[in-house]
Amino acid sequence: MSSMLRYLAVSVGLLLTPAMAADAPAPDPTLVAKGLQFFNDAALSGSGNVSCATCHFSSGHTNNKTYVGLDVVADGNPDGRSTPTLWGAGERSVYGWGGTAPTLEESIRGIIVNRMKGAEPSKETLAALVAYVRSLPSPKNWQLNEDGTPSPAATPSVQRGFALFIGDGGCGTCHVLPSLDKSSRDDIGTGGRFKVPSLRAVVLTAPYFHDGRTASLRDAIKLMWGVYAKKMDTARTPTDAELDDLLAYVSAL
Ligand code: HEC
Ligand code: HEC
Repeated sequence: MSSMLRYLAVSVGLLLTPAMAADAPAPDPTLVAKGLQFFNDAALSGSGNVSCATCHFSSGHTNNKTYVGLDVVADGNPDGRSTPTLWGAGERSVYGWGGTAPTLEESIRGIIVNRMKGAEPSKETLAALVAYVRSLPSPKNWQLNEDGTPSPAATPSVQRGFALFIGDGGCGTCHVLPSLDKSSRDDIGTGGRFKVPSLRAVVLTAPYFHDGRTASLRDAIKLMWGVYAKKMDTARTPTDAELDDLLAYVSAL
C-alpha cells in the first residue's frame, strides 16, 4: 500500500488489519490455511508465474491495478478491469464487475481457467480458496457500527455524510447497507451494465469504477451524485461542503 493510502486510511480511522474483525461463523482453520497456500501458489496459472496474491496482494486486498487478462493496462481502458479487494467478499451478492458469477466458487473457478489460463481446479482446491476468501473480513472503523450506520463517536462530518448518503444523494438505494452492494446491474453511463459494487474499504481501492477511470474517490462520488440526480430528474447538486461530508462517510466504510 502506498504511504498516501496508508495516511488516508489512518486519518479516517480505518484499522488495517483484517484479522481484527468479523463475527461471522469461524471458518475451518485447516481449510483456510490450505486456501492461503493455494492463494500464493503460482502453479494454479498456466504459465506457472502468477498467483492470486500477485493481484490481490496484502492479504487478499488489491494491488490497485487494472488488467486485461494478465496484462496491466492504463486505468480507464474500456476493456480493463480494476482489481477489487477481497476483504469482505464473503458478504457480497454476485461477483465480478459484470455481476455474472452467482457464487464465490464460480467466480474463482472462472478466474483460474479464463484469466490465469490454468487447469480446471479440483473441488478441494476451490473449497479451500473459497474458505480463505471468506475468512477475510472488511476492516472495522470506530466511527461506524457493524451495519454501516454512524456510531455515536462518529465526527459530525461523517454523520452529515451518512444523512446525505441515505437522503438527498440517493446512494443508499443502490449501495444498500450493511454490505453496501446490491445484486442488480445498472447502466449508470459508464459504458454498460455493471453490478452495484460494495463500498467497504473503498478508500483503499483506487482507481474507481470497473475500468479504473477515476483516480480520486471524491471525483467518483461527485460523478455518482450526478447519475442519481439525472435519474431522479432533479437539478440538486452537492455543495463542496456536502461532498466533503459524503467523502468522510464513504471513507470510513
Ligand atoms: C491478473 C490479476 C488477478 C489475478 C491473478 C487474480 N485476480 Fe481475482 N480479480 C482480478 C480482477 C481484475 C477482478 C475483476 C474481474 C471482473 O470483474 O471481470 C477480480 C475479481 C475477483 C473476485 C470477485 C470479487 C468481487 O467482489 O466481485 C474474486 C473472488 C477473486 N478475484 C479472487 C481471486 C482468486 C481466488 C484468485 C486466484 C485463484 C484471483 N482472484 C486471481 C484480478 C486478478
Ligand atoms: C442507480 C444505482 C446507483 C446509485 C444511486 C449510486 N451508485 Fe455508486 N455505483 C453504481 C454502479 C452500478 C457502480 C459501478 C459502475 C462501474 O463500475 O462502471 C457504482 C460505483 C460506485 C463507486 C466506485 C466503487 C469502486 O469500487 O470503484 C463509488 C465510490 C460509488 N459508486 C459511490 C456512490 C455514492 C457516494 C452514491 C450517492 C451519491 C452512489 N454511488 C449512488 C450504482 C449506483
